[in-house]
Amino acid sequence: MASPKSNPKARVLVVGSCSIDMIVQVGRIPSIGETVIGGKFHSAGGGKGANQAVSAARAGASVEFVGRVGRDDFGKNIVAGLKADGIDVSRIQVDPREPSGIAFIFVGGGGENSIAVASGANLRLVPGDVSRAGSSFKKGGTLLVQLETPLAVVSAAVSLARKRGMRVILNPAPARALPDALLRKVDIITPNEHEAESLTGVKVDGEEAAGRAADCLHGRGVGTVIITLGARGAFVSSGSGGSLVPAFKTRAIDTTAAGDVFSGALAVALAEGRPLLEAVRFAQAAASISVTRIGAQPSAPGRAEIERLLKRTA
Ligand code: RIB
Repeated sequence: MASPKSNPKARVLVVGSCSIDMIVQVGRIPSIGETVIGGKFHSAGGGKGANQAVSAARAGASVEFVGRVGRDDFGKNIVAGLKADGIDVSRIQVDPREPSGIAFIFVGGGGENSIAVASGANLRLVPGDVSRAGSSFKKGGTLLVQLETPLAVVSAAVSLARKRGMRVILNPAPARALPDALLRKVDIITPNEHEAESLTGVKVDGEEAAGRAADCLHGRGVGTVIITLGARGAFVSSGSGGSLVPAFKTRAIDTTAAGDVFSGALAVALAEGRPLLEAVRFAQAAASISVTRIGAQPSAPGRAEIERLLKRTA
């Protein structure tokens, strides 16, 4: 159901992946060749694109999703799950050839994870799917993209959003090389430290290094860089020096999708006109709640819960 606090002005369009996550929660993540028993199984909606869409919807935006599922029960469940969160699923195509995306996730005792993805229909998304969804690219809206779908699709979506006067947020996950021509069209990029290192070659092991990585991304054309640093917080830079926004203190059970929840909530806060640092704090509040729960989509908090945490810690 759409949040009753839905702000019709906060419009978020997500072009990206959607999957079903098969999660095994274990004491510790097995190493190669090792078997660890005694785990607990969960399955839930996942995929970075769909997770960000759910995060944005629960944080209060009106959300449309462009993606592909397979002609299977997983696909039906993915679509039903998004619909239940009030997300417009009319732009989701059913692929005739590939199955729905599936991710296998180990979650260790400290909340850390290890993920393998069988992308399936997510890699069958084509630039034509973006053009078919052309009327969803509306001036004043926000486009949210990630890297679990083909780069040609990400580029097509970013270019169209740019043309239509939308804000473009790229969560560059999972890490891969990106052309400057794409980065130049991105308003805000939200890598974690590993993705920032893979994009810039700078090992992000602290605030000073985060500043150098951010400068490198500015040099390649990105306006605002937000490097998420896990329990330390987020380094935010708009070109003229950056600052660290400290994280909320929390005990992590499962960090899966913390970055997705962050990006989805950030998109909403910015779309509602909050200043950048305030929007980052809103996103951090959402992410810090999400890590206290198991699963990607089940862990995304609602608007009221985010506001409560912000109020409690003001
Ligand atoms: O970012 C977390 C997501 O990555 C999981 O939901 C899984 O589906 C993988 O895509």
